[in-house]
Amino acid sequence: MWLKSEILLLYCIASEVWMTRQLDSRKKVPRGLYSVEDSGSAKGNRLKRSLYQGRSCRVRGCCTGRDDGCSFNIISKAAVCYCDQFCTSGSPGPVDCCADYWEVCDHPAEPTRSDEPWPPPASGCYKDGQYYGEGTIIKDNCNSCKCFQGLWKCSKEVCLVRQDLIQRINSGDYGWKADNYSQFWGMTVGEGFKKRLGTFPPSHSLLNMREASGNSLPEEKFPEFFSATYKWPDWIHDPLDQRNCGASWAFSTASVAADRITIRSEGQITDNLSAQNLISCDTRNQHGCNGGSIDGAWRYLKTHGVVSYACYPSFWNDHLQPSSENRCYVSSEYGKNHTNGPCPNALEESNRLYLCASHYRVSSKETVIMKEIMDKGPVQAIMKVYEDFFLYKEGIYRCSQKAGSKWRTHSVKLLG
Ligand SMILES: *[C@@H]1O[C@H](CO)[C@@H](O)[C@H](O)[C@H]1NC(C)=O
Ligand SMILES: *[C@@H]1O[C@H](CO)[C@@H](O)[C@H](O)[C@H]1NC(C)=O
Ligand SMILES: *[C@@H]1O[C@H](CO)[C@@H](O)[C@H](O)[C@H]1NC(C)=O
Repeated sequence: MWLKSEILLLYCIASEVWMTRQLDSRKKVPRGLYSVEDSGSAKGNRLKRSLYQGRSCRVRGCCTGRDDGCSFNIISKAAVCYCDQFCTSGSPGPVDCCADYWEVCDHPAEPTRSDEPWPPPASGCYKDGQYYGEGTIIKDNCNSCKCFQGLWKCSKEVCLVRQDLIQRINSGDYGWKADNYSQFWGMTVGEGFKKRLGTFPPSHSLLNMREASGNSLPEEKFPEFFSATYKWPDWIHDPLDQRNCGASWAFSTASVAADRITIRSEGQITDNLSAQNLISCDTRNQHGCNGGSIDGAWRYLKTHGVVSYACYPSFWNDHLQPSSENRCYVSSEYGKNHTNGPCPNALEESNRLYLCASHYRVSSKETVIMKEIMDKGPVQAIMKVYEDFFLYKEGIYRCSQKAGSKWRTHSVKLLG
């Protein structure tokens, strides 16, 4: 009984000493100088040898390299002993290792501890060498974990970025390589589908639309490589970043329309068009950042038209309130070339509306699409996206998922 309470007392005092030392060294000594300063004063500091034969490193834990905080105070002997690797080297040499260092720490194969608090807490959890108290909630990629009775209890969502999937794709023969995108880190697959895509599957009317007649060429007539940016270097607009707004229906349409208008006008009109105008104002059967249809977007471009990006920037731009996502800031009437009021972005004067003629459907035959792009510019395409697509880095994407995996539709601009 007596022995137990003595040891408990030691724990408390020594842990205070350890903590103040940690604080001191952090406060006063710049990181880079730490080891230099220490080796000068170290020899004197470490002379107090302990003859204490009890459990020291076994309760304190072992540390790698040099760590003066990795020590054990033997109050009754006014002495300190160490459990870091450094205690076995230099002067005064092994004498300042704790008595049980050799037995406990001197096994190269055994894991060593360094950042854990001491004394070891009775409860709480560890993650990546860091201690978290009972009840702490942390985020582990897309899952949230709570420390409960010393164990992590985590939600079981499937994350968008998964190391195992990246490895499987990169070591397999899929024809493309995968990467970890930090902007997708922490999202579930469900969130990725909801926020990073956003084009409804083609409607019946779109599927039944008659294909534009066009003669394709035999494949050997096409160049080995073609990109619209080669043929029209200054007229193709950069891809737009939809961020976490599931409105690829609006972004891809605005981007393709801007390219087509520029090419059609032979460079007279180069403005990029406002996807936000579509997101906020084309609301009939469309759902803004929760998805929409591309044929609806093209119809809106024909009947109302949209203003330039400069006139109506995205809601995350400083000129608009972030909460204005669902509010339409321009009023446009059928047949008019300008909006009824000034631009939402007061710095831009031109409230001109850009309208498109009717959209049309190109055959799904590869050579017909190739010819269409070479003659008239980029086209819009709807594609099926599986969860592995969010990891796409380079190469020719082919689904690596098992048959029956979940997918959603997305729309993109094809450049070549
Ligand atoms: C992926 O990137 C995130 C954020 O940059 C990082 O925290 C994470 O450790 C990385 N994950 C993998 C599996 O590489
Ligand atoms: C819009 O176009 C201008 C010039 O044409 C370009 O500098 C700018 O980056 C474009 N903005 C976006 C969002 O693409
Ligand atoms: C709109 O612009 C077109 C082409 O610039 C022009 O032909 C038409 O008359 C204009 N319409 C109106 C209502 O201003």
